[in-house]
Amino acid sequence: MQDEPVNFTMVLFGANSDLAARKLYPSFYQLARWGHLSGAYRIIAVGRGDLSHEAFRTQVREKILLFSPGTIDDEEHFASFCLRLFYVQVDLEKIEDYHSLQREIMHVSGEPGLCSHLLFYLSTPPALAPVIVRNLREAGLGGKNMECGGWRKIVVEKPYGTDLHSARELNTEIGSAFSEEQIFRIDHYLGKETVQNILVFRFSNGIFEPLWNRNHIARVDITIAENFGIRDRGAFYDQTGLLRDIVQNHGLQLLASVAMEPPVDLSADAVRDEKSKVLRSIRRITSRTIEQSVVIGQYDGYRSERHVAADSRTETFAAVNFFVDNWRWKGVPFLIRAGKNLAETVTEIVITFACPPQNFFGPAESCSYTANQVILRIQPEETIAIRFGAKRPGESVITDPVYMKFDYRGSFSQPGMTPYHRLLLDALDGDQMNFIRQDSVEYSWAIIDAIRDALSGRVPDSYSVGSWGPPTDLQG
Ligand code: BG6
Repeated sequence: MQDEPVNFTMVLFGANSDLAARKLYPSFYQLARWGHLSGAYRIIAVGRGDLSHEAFRTQVREKILLFSPGTIDDEEHFASFCLRLFYVQVDLEKIEDYHSLQREIMHVSGEPGLCSHLLFYLSTPPALAPVIVRNLREAGLGGKNMECGGWRKIVVEKPYGTDLHSARELNTEIGSAFSEEQIFRIDHYLGKETVQNILVFRFSNGIFEPLWNRNHIARVDITIAENFGIRDRGAFYDQTGLLRDIVQNHGLQLLASVAMEPPVDLSADAVRDEKSKVLRSIRRITSRTIEQSVVIGQYDGYRSERHVAADSRTETFAAVNFFVDNWRWKGVPFLIRAGKNLAETVTEIVITFACPPQNFFGPAESCSYTANQVILRIQPEETIAIRFGAKRPGESVITDPVYMKFDYRGSFSQPGMTPYHRLLLDALDGDQMNFIRQDSVEYSWAIIDAIRDALSGRVPDSYSVGSWGPPTDLQG
């Protein structure tokens, strides 16, 4: 939460985006309702259509009611929030429209010149980001060389580019208008309480870190499963696929959080340095290793989804066996498995420890049944479990796996913030720890590009809706 009242104007590109409707408007309103936005703030939403401020406010209300029922619990308060919402029609290609936007910003913020604090939020398809940034710069709205006291920031939603080449181009374009400290690349997974807790779990407890390496850990399994399909996002999804939608960002960020070295301190760059080093150390998958490293799948019926090509080869499931080639992790498989329309919605990280040197209590193979595990359940239940073997009560000595469990909600009474609450506040505060730095974005794309090249148009294996995807017997 901000200590001092901060007056700012947020300019949101993508007024009608799905993300704005589902997450951004409700989160902004809640932050205001809870008193986290203590200064004078305004939100200028930018869209293509012709809409009055009034009509836009009505739309925002409808969207919040639809996607976040219960959020508007005080009509009077909501009405005062609405007075801070404005709408501006912009043709993103036309520089003149950015000059009008500039005038609107000055008018709305009530500040002469452009000295107010300005946060640009890009909730637009990746192909539009370079155009927007170029025009912002040309209209004098960029963050570099500001002549008066306010700050400027830009938040960019994922997907950040569509491959290494486009991400680099976007980095160059944004870098010509904003400096790295002004750029906030969002991966909303990093705003999740349970993801932020990975660092705390590892580095605030003495008992895990000494074991957290190749000498004691046999494998790491990261699962990001959803029990629903692509919903109404066929056009986006069919061009994107699961590797780019989930593995490139959420999956690799989880892996980096599990595998990173302790940072020298908790500054944003110290933490991001360590994550970048992990991504840089991930062994590239090539056409020689693709067969044993990657399985891709597509759920039955995917090709009949709206806006999906009838002969689509887009993957809705992927399992990738990664190796982190550094001193700590050499030889330990990190399997990321993610998919749509699977049996359950669950995100978890399972760290499986090596078996003891001798198994007194059963055949050697039985160790995998009781091997120690730390299970970081990211969602939906937010828990951490430790699995170990225990003697089943009775005359014979039979070992069973049992679990010790910590449950976030049971242990802490205050509800956590949602990722968007937290990340919006962090961006306003200028805290970049949970935003992706330029080098990490590029390393992640290089990893995914290599896989996609090696797959060279492979037809995904089909799998039934509600299953766990195609078989994934990956050896690495
Ligand atoms: C988004 C992906 O980044 O994350 C979606 O584009 C996915 O395909 C979503 O469903 C999952 O996020 P969460 O927070 O609901 O698990």
